[in-house]
Amino acid sequence: MHQDVEKILVTEEELNKIAHRLAKQITEDFAGKKLLIIGVLKGSIYFLTDLSRYIDLPCNIDFIQASSYGASTVSSGEIKIVKDTYEDLTGFDVLLVEDILDTGKTLKYIHDMLSKRNPESISVVTLLDKPARRVADIKADYVGVDVPDAFVVGYGLDYDQLYRNLPYIGVLKKSIYEK
Ligand code: IMP
Ligand code: MG
Repeated sequence: MHQDVEKILVTEEELNKIAHRLAKQITEDFAGKKLLIIGVLKGSIYFLTDLSRYIDLPCNIDFIQASSYGASTVSSGEIKIVKDTYEDLTGFDVLLVEDILDTGKTLKYIHDMLSKRNPESISVVTLLDKPARRVADIKADYVGVDVPDAFVVGYGLDYDQLYRNLPYIGVLKKSIYEK
């Protein structure tokens, strides 16, 4: 697994620091609110579990899953909801948790869909941001770290469903997907 990684971009230690920093800010900003954390499956799982443990507030946790990718490194732009949320969003201050904001099409679709369900507010936290590739009109309220325009894996992010369990974020060797 590790041999398929060209370069480590964000180490385990840095990932932990990011989770702590963002959780502290979120704890301040959401104090007194009715917080509902919604993780976008599957990529956000590690980030959500680390981040939410450091948020010092009562909160509800839910998940949503959209699909667009398949075994490719570019978004198809055609988004489908594979698993919807369980909770009724009415009155909640929703915090959407994403692994990476790339073109932004996936998150924009989810954001617009959830906006119609009477939440009190919707905010977005993304571990990684690739601003160079943004197409959709969406911005994250909280960003872990900006990354260059390279295909990255690990800490939840996959290529063709593999590499999610790498403990760091790394750039995948081009030879893996340019076969
Ligand atoms: P978007 O709709 O183009 O913003 O794509 C969002 C989704 O594509 C993310 O939630 C990721 O699952 C996936 N994605 C985008 N860039 C990468 C990458 O560099 N590595 C792995 N997955 C990625
Ligand atoms: Mg994803």
